[in-house]
Amino acid sequence: MSNVIEINELTKYYGSLFWKKKTPALDRLTLLVPGGTVFGFLGPNGAGKTTTIKLLMDLIRPSSGQARILGEPPDSLDVKRQIGFLPDAPAFSSYLSAREFLVICAKLLRIPSATRRKRIDEVLDIVKMTNHAGSRLGGFSRGMLQRIGIAQAILNEPKLLILDEPLVGLDPHGRQELKDIIISQKKIGTDVFFSSHILSDVEKMCDSIGILNNGKLLCAGRIDQLLSATGVRLHVNPGCDNIAQDFLPMATGSIKLSDGGWELVFTTTLDLTSKLDKLRAERPGDISVSSSRENLEDFFFRKIESDRFVE
Ligand SMILES: Nc1ncnc2c1ncn2[C@@H]1O[C@H](COP(=O)(O)OP(=O)(O)O)[C@@H](O)[C@H]1O
Ligand SMILES: [Mg+2]
Repeated sequence: MSNVIEINELTKYYGSLFWKKKTPALDRLTLLVPGGTVFGFLGPNGAGKTTTIKLLMDLIRPSSGQARILGEPPDSLDVKRQIGFLPDAPAFSSYLSAREFLVICAKLLRIPSATRRKRIDEVLDIVKMTNHAGSRLGGFSRGMLQRIGIAQAILNEPKLLILDEPLVGLDPHGRQELKDIIISQKKIGTDVFFSSHILSDVEKMCDSIGILNNGKLLCAGRIDQLLSATGVRLHVNPGCDNIAQDFLPMATGSIKLSDGGWELVFTTTLDLTSKLDKLRAERPGDISVSSSRENLEDFFFRKIESDRFVE
């Protein structure tokens, strides 16, 4: 399947020509988002996620570089018709009812009057807000507002949904409900690109992720591949400190066990395989080797942490 988003060396400096920030909010971001996926765009606050999404939505212009959505530049009207968007802090008029708000959105989207009501009923049903259609938005909880936000984003049956931190500020129940809605959209064939810093949610929902830090992409790819490629665990029996010392410089994690043995973790198997094979053949009783799979949270923090020491 072709890519739904293609970003090439995208860079954004905020500020005027004469008063520009020295460091870019987004620094030569290159990223391909394949179709048929839920893509999680991860990064701590200030990483540049919203900036990227604003660039994709044509709300701001890049300092350099290009982006394409569904094969077109972000300012293409044709593309705008095929995307649904939920901004990071949507503001709703508190005096409108949920249905009135969706009618306005549907009119802006030029959904014909003949199908408008039916479609609004459908989206209210999808986000489980049918019973609140006549209630004013001012009385809604954060979770209910997020569901109405999703409802407006899917009104035009988009091919691609772009959601900026949709899970933020929700309680666990609200998060689960929203995740279910996002997964339901994936099931009907909608691609989803969403940003988040809530990692445990992402691991269950996304097929692929990208991790952004200080405006730079640290890694991107399928979660199963990123995590399975993460390494090897070497257990060294007590009394074999020389083996542990030999491998320590390459280890990303090490624990000296209370029995005198060692547990070493290597996050990349690069260059280690032949060395380990040799050791296994020569001293089979002294070590055991197993594969280690990080959870996404450990992977994320390791990537962010190691980025601190670059440059
Ligand atoms: N309108 C703006 N003017 C100046 N700086 C901004 C503006 N918007 C964001 N920034 C800065 O750009 C960086 C990235 O911000 P943002 O894209 O909002 O990150 P994230 O969404 O990942 O939290 C931050 O350092 C932020 O302070
Ligand atoms: Mg943001």
